[in-house]
Amino acid sequence: MDHVVSLIKEYFPSSAGELSIGGVAVSELARQYGTPMFVYDRGIIDEKWNLLRDALPPPFSICYSVKANPNQTILKHFLSKGAGLEVASAGEFCQALHAGCPPDKIIFAGPGKTESELELVLGKGIGEIHLESVREAERVSAIAQKLGLHARVAVRVNPSGEAEGGAMRMGGRPAAFGIDEETLDEVLDRVISLKNLEFRGIHLFTGTQILDFQILVSQYRKGLEVALRVATRLKRSLHTLDFGGGLGTPYFPHEQQLDTQKLKTELSLLFESVHSEPLFSGTHFMVEPGRYLVGEAGVYVTRVIDLKVSRGKKFLILDGGMHHHLAASGNLGQTIKRNYPVAVLNKLDEPAEETFEVSGPLCTPLDVLARGAILPRIEIGDLVGVFQSGAYGRSASPLGFLSHPAPPEIWVDNGSHRLIRRRGEFADYLRDQPSGSESPA
Ligand SMILES: Cc1ncc(COP(=O)(O)O)c(C=O)c1O
Repeated sequence: MDHVVSLIKEYFPSSAGELSIGGVAVSELARQYGTPMFVYDRGIIDEKWNLLRDALPPPFSICYSVKANPNQTILKHFLSKGAGLEVASAGEFCQALHAGCPPDKIIFAGPGKTESELELVLGKGIGEIHLESVREAERVSAIAQKLGLHARVAVRVNPSGEAEGGAMRMGGRPAAFGIDEETLDEVLDRVISLKNLEFRGIHLFTGTQILDFQILVSQYRKGLEVALRVATRLKRSLHTLDFGGGLGTPYFPHEQQLDTQKLKTELSLLFESVHSEPLFSGTHFMVEPGRYLVGEAGVYVTRVIDLKVSRGKKFLILDGGMHHHLAASGNLGQTIKRNYPVAVLNKLDEPAEETFEVSGPLCTPLDVLARGAILPRIEIGDLVGVFQSGAYGRSASPLGFLSHPAPPEIWVDNGSHRLIRRRGEFADYLRDQPSGSESPA
């Protein structure tokens, strides 16, 4: 089945000729909030949450990875489900606090944490800092001493690839993230010797966009092995074992949805041995997914502004593009440009018969949301949507590039809808510049 058709059937079943998001017609949302905009459906987020919750053995906790989509409403929604939050900067930490997350339910991972960021999070009582280097451990120790407190830390490990038979996507390669497993013992000795640090556990460095449950299972097995080895060496159980995020979303036709039933079966087998291992008693197991929980819940909705032919190729020009959705333009880590699922949202029942280059409004050839997309006959004003846009969409895009207003975000909850981030204004671009900077010296 066509990828878009199967997505609509699965996640937007009340759609007929027009896309209905959580029971609300997309034309109604466009009329009320304007385009371009991001729309998120609470029902889909809940569905993904339930699937993941069910797949994980009962002692697991879930920390939502804020970087995937930091909107306050989304953060509050996950908090209401009992999630913690994983942040990668002081900015994300402040957003987590603002959403009402108790500081001790926040973990901070990611390279290059600055002194001021560390001072801020430690001063506010952050749950754990996941260390990425020895220097960072020393920095955290010095700040904790200065503030007269104990910093709870875990060490992020970049596992050795050989042990996984090459199954791991990113582990085993040189990386800016985590501590190479080969040097873990000596690094841990150093971390444990540092003053005012409470060493709590291990965080496994993982890949992202993993759709094969076997890769995840082998990654979790590896995490258990590393943690057990560390606990045995320290002669005490660890407080934390964080298996990371990385559960994927199938964006392209050749990709398959992660099989959470099989993941559940394999993980419950894997965790049978864990329950009988005394060195795991008292260990908190956790994951920190982002994309899996919110990716499929978002649609980026744009409108057709222009339609033209250039040397035999038809071009659709939309009012939105890569400045709002870098990932869909293929410029966020894709080596070969593949199209995110795209549809004409007000013509779902019309036959796809023409081939288009679907471009945004920026004057760069990079601003293409879809190449060679086969779509129904297009008219100016039609609504074109990019599916699977809930994660790494707005927040992972160069919003300031060409100074268009930043797109609003809309929350749909079972037939009702509301604005959860306003559209940017032209004044936003001037606000950050000190007065006087307008006139040349
Ligand atoms: C430390 C850490 N945790 C969690 C995530 C979330 O990954 P994903 O959205 O693939 O689940 C990332 C992604 O880069 C990460 O670096």
